[in-house]
Order: sequence, then C-alpha cells, then structure tokens
Amino acid sequence: MNKSVISVLGGTGDLGGGLVYRWAKAGYKIIIGSRIEDRAIEAANAVRQRLPEAEVKGCDNLAAAAEGDVVVVSVPFSHQAALLAEVRAAVQGKIVIDTTVCLAPPKVGTVSIPEAGSAGMIAQDTLGENVKVVSAFQNIAAAHLNSDHKIQCDVLVCGNDKEARSLVIELARDAGMNAWHAGNINNSIAVEGMTSILITLNKAYKIPGAGIVVTTGK
Ligand SMILES: NC(=O)c1ccc[n+]([C@@H]2O[C@H](COP(=O)([O-])OP(=O)(O)OC[C@H]3O[C@@H](n4cnc5c(N)ncnc54)[C@H](OP(=O)(O)O)[C@@H]3O)[C@@H](O)[C@H]2O)c1
Repeated sequence: MNKSVISVLGGTGDLGGGLVYRWAKAGYKIIIGSRIEDRAIEAANAVRQRLPEAEVKGCDNLAAAAEGDVVVVSVPFSHQAALLAEVRAAVQGKIVIDTTVCLAPPKVGTVSIPEAGSAGMIAQDTLGENVKVVSAFQNIAAAHLNSDHKIQCDVLVCGNDKEARSLVIELARDAGMNAWHAGNINNSIAVEGMTSILITLNKAYKIPGAGIVVTTGK
C-alpha cells in the first residue's frame, strides 16, 4: 500500500520540524509548509542534509495543505485560527492532525484552556465535519523528535473518527512512539492541558523533555 503524503504546516518550526525528520526517516513523502516558501525550501534542504534519501520538499502553507493526503498543523496557538481559515477549503475531505497547545506566555507552565474548549475542538469547528481532525503529539518535546534516540513518551490521540485516529496511531508508531486511542476531540482539552504540567516538570527537575507513558497494570 502507498504511504500517505504528509504535509506539515509550520514544519519549519521545532515540533513540526521534528515530525518531518522522523517521518522522512521512516520513508514518508513530506511537504513542509511555511508562510514563506523560501523558508520551507530551506528547511527541506536541511532535512536532505541529514537524510540524503528523504523525499521532502517545501512550499507555502496553502500549497502544502492542498497537496498532502494528511495535513499537520504545527504553529503557535496565537496563529492557529488564521492558518486554519487560510487552508479550510484545501483540506476538505482530509485528515488534519492538530498539535496546537494553548500556552499563555510567560506562564507557559500553567494550564490555559481556550474559551472554545481546546485547540483540537477549535480545529474541528473551524474546518467543519467534512474534515477528520485528530489531535496528537502535544505531550512530545520537539527535542526528542529532532534526535535519533528512542522516544520513551507515549502519544494520546483524540478525534471523532476511529479510522482517522488509527491512521495517526500508525504514523506515531512509524515516528518511533507508542500511541493510544484517547477518545473524541473533546478529550483533547486534558491532553493539551497536560503539556503545561510537563513544562513545569521540566523546569522543576531540570529535565529536557518530560513525557507521559501509559501503564497497563499487566
Ligand atoms: N516545541 C515543542 O516541544 C512542542 C511540544 C508539544 C506541542 N507543541 C505545540 O506545537 C505547536 C508548534 O510549536 P513549535 O514549538 O514548533 O512552534 P514554533 O517553532 O515557535 O513555530 C512553528 C512555526 O509556526 C510558524 N509561525 C510562527 N509565527 C507565525 C505566525 N504569526 N503566523 C503563522 N505561522 C507562524 C513559523 O513558520 P513559518 O515562519 O515558516 O511560517 C514557525 O516555524 C505549538 O502550538 C506548540 O504549543 C510544541
């Protein structure tokens, strides 16, 4: 079966760039999106420096959203709404993975819940029911994704469509992480909130990338 083409909007940044690296390494064809096409092309070139075989290219966010089978949104919360509005038409019928966390600088270690509930719910509401929004990767530090070490953090995957969640779980596994069905998109509130707690742990214990691991008790 052909692997999905993955577009990462904001793939020039820390988290998006890490996902790009991991998926390119796993053999996915990747499109990096940016507000500025040249920045995306530069980021794609940088990936090829690390992974000469990588199938990766860069273009502006709208073109990236139109071309990918699966579209990842990875920008700061303050810019999520504008980006979703820009690509809304281009992503109809697709799976959109939202990684956004509502952080309220400078108190990024304090949980901040947006008025609409969560960034994942904002994405689903803005894009409409013809788009399968799945939220994931909010609890993974970018530093892990950008490294080559084994990632010992799990991914909680929320979304209203089970098949779409399953695909994102497979993508997380291909990127080197264990991932779990964590219910509908409303549950994203708790997952996004957990990120501020992980940031607090990083600070308090001077660790580079705290994460969560689900234990089964077996
Ligand atoms: N970093 C982490 O460890 C981490 C972990 C978990 C979750 N997250 C979440 O993942 C998302 C991305 O985080 P990040 O750390 O990767 O962010 P980032 O590096 O600060 O920014 C990501 C990209 O967003 C784009 N961007 C910046 N300002 C923008 C604007 N005004 N309008 C539109 N796009 C803009 C930029 O791309 P262009 O300039 O190329 O357009 C930038 O490269 C955030 O919501 C964050 O909370 C991050």
